[in-house]
Amino acid sequence: MSMNEMDVLVLPGDGVGPEVTAQAVRVLEWFADRRKLPATLTERSFGGSNWQKHGTLMPDETWERINSADAILFGSVDSLDQAKIPAEERRKGSLLRMRKSLDLFANLRPIKMLPALSEASPYKPRITEGVDFVIIRELTAGMYFGTPRGVERLPDGTRRGVNTHTYTEAEILRVARFGFELARTRRNHLTSVDKGNVMESGAMWREIVTELHRAEFSDVVLEHMLADNCGMQLSRAPRRFDVIVTDNLFGDLLSDCAGAILGSLGMLPSASLGAIGPDGRRKALYEPIHGSAPDIAGQGIANPLGSILSVVEMLRWTFGAPEEAARLEAAVAGALAMGARTADIAAPGEGTTNTAGMGDAVLQALEAGR
Ligand code: IPM
Ligand code: MG
Repeated sequence: MSMNEMDVLVLPGDGVGPEVTAQAVRVLEWFADRRKLPATLTERSFGGSNWQKHGTLMPDETWERINSADAILFGSVDSLDQAKIPAEERRKGSLLRMRKSLDLFANLRPIKMLPALSEASPYKPRITEGVDFVIIRELTAGMYFGTPRGVERLPDGTRRGVNTHTYTEAEILRVARFGFELARTRRNHLTSVDKGNVMESGAMWREIVTELHRAEFSDVVLEHMLADNCGMQLSRAPRRFDVIVTDNLFGDLLSDCAGAILGSLGMLPSASLGAIGPDGRRKALYEPIHGSAPDIAGQGIANPLGSILSVVEMLRWTFGAPEEAARLEAAVAGALAMGARTADIAAPGEGTTNTAGMGDAVLQALEAGR
C-alpha cells in the first residue's frame, strides 16, 4: 500500500469510551502492522476524567492536535459528570465545538443488518433482512447552531425558550451534493428528508435538492420524503432506503430510529467529514453513536463494534482504502457468525463475551481472512 502517512488522534474520553476505543485501536494497529496502513496514532486524555485530574476537559495542546489531525477516533464524553463542570469549560471540550470548528458538515451513519443480529432486533426478520442504507446528517447548521437562541424573561415574568432553524443555500447544496455522490457509489437512490409542508426552510431545502438533481445528478433516483413519514418508513420498510440526506435535527432523531433496527446502539458507527481541502485531505472524526453508557462503564462489557466499525469508515474515507474497509467489515461479520456476542446483542440464552473478547474475535477473523 503506498499512500500518505495519516495522523490519527485517539480521544477515548469517558465512560465506556476508553474500553471500546482500546479495541478499535488494536484493530487499527493490526492494519498498520499487517497491512502496512500508513497510520501514526497519538492518544490524548479528554473529557470528564481529564477534568478530574487536571481541571480542564483538555489542554490547549490537544485542541491544536484536534485541528491538525487527519482523523480523530473519538470515544465518548460523559454528560453526567459534566454537569459539575463550569459551562465555559464544557463548551471548550464539547463535541459540537469540534464538529463546528472543523466544519464537519457531512455526518454518515451507516445502518447495515447482519444475519447474526436478527435475534437482537426488535423487528421481524422479513423487515430487517437485507437492510443496508446510510443516513447523511448535516452537522454544522440548522437547529443546533442557529441564532437567536436562549431563554428570555417575558414582561409577565414567565419565560420563553428560543432556538432557530436556519440553512443557507450553500449549506444545503454541499450536503446534498455529498448525498448524490455517495448514492452513485451505492444503489443510486437518494431520499431527501425535510418538513417542507410546514417549514419555509424545508420547502427551500426541497427546491435546492431538486435543482441540483436536475442540473448535475439526473442519473440518480431522487425522492423527497417528509420527516415524520420517514420515521414511519424506517420501521415499516427500511430496506427501501439507500442514502438518506437530511438536516441536523431530523438526522439526529432519524438515526436513533434507524439504530433500533439493529437492536443495539452499540453496533452503530459514524463518520463526520469535512470538505476536501486544497491539500487533497479532508478533516474527519469517527465515533460510535452510543454515548458514554455510565451504567455499564468500567465493567469491560460494552460492545466495541460501533467503534471498530467506525474504523471501517476511517479506512474508507481517510485512508481511501476500500478493500481494507471491506476486509474489516467482513471480519466483524465473521466474528458475529462465529458466535461472538456482547450482552447487548445476545439473544436470550446465548453465551456472551466481554469487550476485549469481541476485540479478540475480530482480530482472529482478520488473521483468518489474510
Ligand atoms: C448524536 C448525539 C449528539 C447530538 C449529542 C450527544 C449532543 O445525540 O451525535 O447523535 O445530538 O448530536
Ligand atoms: Mg443523537
